[in-house]
Amino acid sequence: MKYKSLKGFSDILGEDIALWQALEREINAIMRLYGYSEIRTPIVEPTELFTRSVGEATDVVGKEMYTFWDKGTPPESLALRPELTAPTARAYIQYEIAKQQQITKWYYVGQAFRYEQPQKGRSRQFHTCGVELLGAAGAKADTEVITLGYDLLKKIGINNFTLRINSLGNYEERTKYKQALVEYLSKYANDLSAESQRRIATNPLRVLDSKDSRDSEVIANSPSILDFLSTDSETHFSDLQECLQSSGVSFVVDNKLVRGLDYYTKTVFEFQTKSLGSQDALGGGGRYDNLISELGGTPTPATGFGFGLERLILAARLEQGLQFVPNKLDVYLVAMGEEAQKKIPAISHKIRLAGFSADYDLLNRSVKAQMKESNKKEARFAIIIGEQELKTNSVVLKNLETSEQKNISQEEILTEISC
Ligand code: HAM
Repeated sequence: MKYKSLKGFSDILGEDIALWQALEREINAIMRLYGYSEIRTPIVEPTELFTRSVGEATDVVGKEMYTFWDKGTPPESLALRPELTAPTARAYIQYEIAKQQQITKWYYVGQAFRYEQPQKGRSRQFHTCGVELLGAAGAKADTEVITLGYDLLKKIGINNFTLRINSLGNYEERTKYKQALVEYLSKYANDLSAESQRRIATNPLRVLDSKDSRDSEVIANSPSILDFLSTDSETHFSDLQECLQSSGVSFVVDNKLVRGLDYYTKTVFEFQTKSLGSQDALGGGGRYDNLISELGGTPTPATGFGFGLERLILAARLEQGLQFVPNKLDVYLVAMGEEAQKKIPAISHKIRLAGFSADYDLLNRSVKAQMKESNKKEARFAIIIGEQELKTNSVVLKNLETSEQKNISQEEILTEISC
């Protein structure tokens, strides 16, 4: 029997790894510039953490979460994390971070799991990179995380995207809006797709997200959440727009943007692209001022976002952003004869300890095959050792870019290859 990776679960290898590593380097670099420190949380959490935060009526929790019972007595229901905001909030409360500092800036990169129908840009295991800024209530904090996301996209060569922003107001404002929306949608229920009809009762805001053509006309004329905002939420939203404008971050206001997770308050945003087909969200996020208290912590305003790394890689590739840069080998060692074969590991060890990459043949192949390999690996230098060189403690150093070669003592190797 041949085993294969599960549907929707991918291996990353070969040339792709270079792109992933380049992306991770850019992420780490930008997080340093913005002063965010990394947090790594477990992949498995209690199921309840997600039902209480992301919300039971959402697709992410209600339909897509991987859950299982552990072997405890009594057994506990656990979940593979479908997202990382809730685990981060859990850690914030668990370690009483609020008592230690007023502002917390965290970022993470890691796997998340959603049982969805795999397609381009959508998998069951995916990687997400996100930031969470905890402790600040103002629009300046939203501006900071949005600007960070914007800069990251530009840095990795993605320019073909639109930033959409909206405000969902606070709980009371949204409740009033929901009532008006349900009233409106119910009037036109017969014109809606079956899925949207079902959602009127379960999660009416998500109807606005529908990509079904049958729903578009009804959605276009639906009431706007922006007409339901209090002065406080309105001011927050206009401050955000002002801050983004003055930071040179272009955006469009989209009063139909609702996002698929229940914890958002006020600001929501999404970076969307046309280059990936239906999976158009490169990333998204928003403010979640009630989440920490709902999970049992002291009330703490917070904002953040998450990107999907698979989608970033796809989009960056299309725009020739992140490039595959092969790591060049510094030295390939070629042995002529049995004694030289034995000497080569020690010489390579010295070269590697000095910080240069070195490689050699492990299959006792012919000198011709070894030389061929040094070219294939595009090494800068070949170091050739035969009986003569062994007797005189020397090596032949061949510059594979110029084909020049010379005899040098073994002590001179490091000086010669560092030029
Ligand atoms: P989300 O929009 O559910 O937000 O996911 C973030 C990003 O993960 C999406 O925009 C998308 O790029 C990627 N993504 C989601 N599902 C999949 C999938 N099945 N396959 C590939 N990529 C996927 C969150 O998860 C929030 N925690 C973001 C956040 C952080 N809000 C505040 N702070």
